[in-house]
Amino acid sequence: MSGRVAGKKAFISGGAQGLGAAMAKALAAEGAKVSLGDINHLGAETVAAEINAAHGEGTAFAFPLDVTKEDQWIFALEEADAAMGGISVLINNAGVADGGAIEDLEFDTWKRVMSINVDSVFLGTKHALKYMRQNQPGSIINISSIAGLIASHSSPAYNASKAGVWLLSKSIALHCAKQKLEIRSNSIHPVFINTPILDRWRQQFGKEEAEAKLGRQIPIGRIGQPEDIAAAAVYLASDESKLMTGAEIKLDGGISAM
Ligand SMILES: NC(=O)c1ccc[n+]([C@@H]2O[C@H](COP(=O)([O-])OP(=O)(O)OC[C@H]3O[C@@H](n4cnc5c(N)ncnc54)[C@H](O)[C@@H]3O)[C@@H](O)[C@H]2O)c1
Repeated sequence: MSGRVAGKKAFISGGAQGLGAAMAKALAAEGAKVSLGDINHLGAETVAAEINAAHGEGTAFAFPLDVTKEDQWIFALEEADAAMGGISVLINNAGVADGGAIEDLEFDTWKRVMSINVDSVFLGTKHALKYMRQNQPGSIINISSIAGLIASHSSPAYNASKAGVWLLSKSIALHCAKQKLEIRSNSIHPVFINTPILDRWRQQFGKEEAEAKLGRQIPIGRIGQPEDIAAAAVYLASDESKLMTGAEIKLDGGISAM
């Protein structure tokens, strides 16, 4: 088998659509096996079937997973380990962008966003390390956001949750280094990317106007594509990035340079 991630076995949360599906396809195209865990199990199965049609049966697998539930993580990781013959890459990708300004935000919404975006990284990493120890070298890739580094007046829950993912990612990196594990942990910080997560704006302004409006906030003048993030995920999953741990990759079209 050839490819930049040949022999790697990746578990990806939120793999039914958007960035998770794009990363799974890119990793499989470069020789990895992939397991998709999503609350939308049917969607994850559809993506896995597409990958298997392109790269052969046994390349991709799908498992039901609500990333806020510890028992579901334990079960999905156990099943993925058995299906792929190990786990060497974990991509904590599932996330939601709900919110509202601080005075309008319901406590239940705050807790839901924090749970899906941050509890997920804690639970997934805690339970995946057991398998990743057996499959070194390994890589943990946490999908934060540029909104974890730059705040907005209207998204306190999303900002706080993604900032949490940023530093949690570094803590995991230091833990693995201290344990002398060859397992790295890094975060990716995308700006607006063309996935269903932007549908809220598309419904409000129409597709073209919404994407143009968001693009005008970015120095390079356009939103990103899922493939832009998938390329970084392949790099971080591969041994090409073996010196990188506890770091962040900003894929933000220059927005954080302002
Ligand atoms: N697209 C962007 O503009 C953008 C920018 C920065 C960061 N991100 C981050 O990238 C990640 C992926 O976003 P996307 O754009 O692909 O979004 P998306 O809405 O297209 O996909 C998210 C996926 O996560 C799954 N999911 C949601 N809640 C879940 C749960 N409780 N358990 C399991 N799966 C669950 C959904 O079913 C879906 O398949 C998210 O963490 C998001 O915050 C996205």
